[in-house]
Amino acid sequence: MDEKKIEITVYEASGINELTGEEAALFEKAADATCRSYAPYSQFHVGAAVLLDNGEIICGSNQENAAYPSGLCAERVALFYAMSKFPHAAVCAIAIHATVNGKPHPDPVYPCGACRQVLLECENRSRQPIKVIMGSAQKIQIVHSVSDLLPLGFDKFKDLKN
Ligand code: THU
Repeated sequence: MDEKKIEITVYEASGINELTGEEAALFEKAADATCRSYAPYSQFHVGAAVLLDNGEIICGSNQENAAYPSGLCAERVALFYAMSKFPHAAVCAIAIHATVNGKPHPDPVYPCGACRQVLLECENRSRQPIKVIMGSAQKIQIVHSVSDLLPLGFDKFKDLKN
């Protein structure tokens, strides 16, 4: 049996000053969106900002519920809102930020598995890579495609595309 290795590339910045102007602006919008999170159960306030190819930036924050599974992550709130508002737009980038007890989370927050699957569908839908900017106060990590976060991901339409 052959062994095949899958490699991913993660870019790491030690602060917002190492980002491009566009990346920094998106990251700041994600940080700002944490203020509008509803997270009384986890106290984990997540903000996401989505940049579309029409120039629009759509923000979202996690919305929790007393019936826990009914809540939704910041990334999916932002992505579903963006795609319902602009169904023909492509997602170029998403930035994610989190605060706990009013302070920025010390480590970058990575999208959960379900959000990665939704991001992958956005990428496949538009057939163009989505940059994912995952940040904290001291460290910001960037991947240039969702497929880096979800290698061997499920794509129902893959065989139909070629
Ligand atoms: N959460 C997000 O909003 N995004 C993530 O990528 C990870 C987790 C939310 C879900 C829940 O409201 C809280 O963070 C704690 O898990």
